[in-house]
Amino acid sequence: MTTRTKVLQELEKNRNTHISGEKLGTSLDISRAAVHKAIKELREEGYDISAVSNKGYCLSEESDVVSPQGISMHLKKNKGSKILVFKTLNSTNKKAKELAAEGAESGTIVIANEQTEGRGRLGRSFYSPADTGIYLSLIIRPNVKAQKGVLITTFASVAVCRAIESVFGLQCEIKWVNDVLLNKRKICGILTEGITDFETGNLEHVILGIGVNFTTENFPDDIKNKAGSIQNTENKHIIRNKFIAELIDQLADITQEIQNGIFIEEYKNRSAALGKEIEVLGHENIRYGKAIDIDESGGLVISLENGENEILNSGEISIKGDFYD
Ligand code: BTN
Repeated sequence: MTTRTKVLQELEKNRNTHISGEKLGTSLDISRAAVHKAIKELREEGYDISAVSNKGYCLSEESDVVSPQGISMHLKKNKGSKILVFKTLNSTNKKAKELAAEGAESGTIVIANEQTEGRGRLGRSFYSPADTGIYLSLIIRPNVKAQKGVLITTFASVAVCRAIESVFGLQCEIKWVNDVLLNKRKICGILTEGITDFETGNLEHVILGIGVNFTTENFPDDIKNKAGSIQNTENKHIIRNKFIAELIDQLADITQEIQNGIFIEEYKNRSAALGKEIEVLGHENIRYGKAIDIDESGGLVISLENGENEILNSGEISIKGDFYD
């Protein structure tokens, strides 16, 4: 562990309280000059660290730089998870894919403070500005049949809702398949990409990519009427590390969850589509109907206008009457 990391860990443990350079030096067995150098480095990285004579250094409550140390101290499960945080990446899914191909273990998490080519579903991009969002990819080696892959995404959307409820006390809805909505605006998108082992038909690995608009405010024109953020200037009080830790905890049992499928009931209760008139979007063959159920594979059961039922396993829908479409 580098001196910088050790100092950061101590500051994180003592957030919002002052700790003297001498005390830091003694507990970490390093010189005061080394402490000073580490503090300088951390400040340059954006950490809000104040210094008061006779009291020492203090990492402010609001300092919101995402770091493995800052996340780990809030984790309740899997405290040993490998968490990699980057300032900028083209896409965390892309990086996670490379790491998975090199043998990274299940549970490895890749996070970026900014993405320059954030990827969305159906070939779209995902707006990923610096400092205001959470862009996270989890490598999973689930040892389940490829057909279960959809359930990974389905469960992840429930996990995001649970994390938001637990940290902020806010209730979210899920727009099939996996957009998380708050006050009818999309605050989170999920992109799952997997590699199948053709011999066994099992998923070799899956990259579960989650993008959350945390405090993002100025969205590009094409999404500004649909996108929203969890926190706005009035209710901005939670730092990203805390929320990320809760999200990682909620995802900890994902393999068991998709095996037993019990969460589907919760997914249905959180669904923004069930019972509503919907449109199945596609370049050709647009269909209209009513969303009547979610099956055990996460498929959306639709009662079509012509009286037949259709089960949708992929694609996109629009919900009639909602501002969000
Ligand atoms: C969507 O809404 O279409 C899915 C968006 C998924 C975005 C996340 S951000 C982290 C991960 N890395 C990416 O490039 N995409 C996913």
